[in-house]
Amino acid sequence: MRIREATVADRAAIVRIARASFDRVYAFFAVRGMRHAWPFLVAEDGTSINQGFLEGILFRGTPPIGYVYFVAVDPRARGMGSGRALVQESLRLFRSRGADRVFAAVSKDNDPSMHLFESLGFERVARRVLWRWYRWRGLSVQMRMLLAPHEVLLARTFTDLPPASPQEVSRAS
Ligand SMILES: CC(C)(COP(=O)(O)OP(=O)(O)OC[C@H]1O[C@@H](n2cnc3c(N)ncnc32)[C@H](O)[C@@H]1OP(=O)(O)O)[C@@H](O)C(=O)NCCC(=O)NCCS
Repeated sequence: MRIREATVADRAAIVRIARASFDRVYAFFAVRGMRHAWPFLVAEDGTSINQGFLEGILFRGTPPIGYVYFVAVDPRARGMGSGRALVQESLRLFRSRGADRVFAAVSKDNDPSMHLFESLGFERVARRVLWRWYRWRGLSVQMRMLLAPHEVLLARTFTDLPPASPQEVSRAS
């Protein structure tokens, strides 16, 4: 399996996977999110068939904040490591842009997704951490995350990076 950047040619497969993976509202936002996603990744098998995708958002500022907006794998290709490989590559890319944390939002009852993120070091956090850690910028990021009431916020912190200084955080807000 290979993880690569998505191209225009992946659009039809991504729409199909989104519709097979999410309800109508989430699928709508996943399709719309393609326009501005970064990183925007696909997983393909040995025969170059698109098996899954990940849409991320990098919220600029000091420090930048990463967000895994959508990740989905074709129902026929699940359980074979694509989801893990997509999230891992997004973590590497977010980090390469200077993010010290990456967030994700998962429905409370979505066990596969919760296990996937927790196995990669994500921890459940209260939404108020966005205010505590990033002040006004955190509130604006929270609005753009489009969190639904039934979703749990998860955060993965790169602990081997020095934390942003308070000045840096307040300058960005
Ligand atoms: C969540 C999702 C992307 C996982 O993709 P996947 O390719 O099947 O996942 P992987 O094979 O890489 O598995 C990675 C880990 O996820 C967890 N996981 C995957 N499927 C699981 C399941 N059915 N039950 C419990 N945990 C599961 C496990 O922790 C697994 O690690 P392990 O194999 O070492 O136990 C996939 O189930 C999916 O597309 N779901 C629908 C869309 C969705 O809910 N997206 C998340 C919110 S945006």
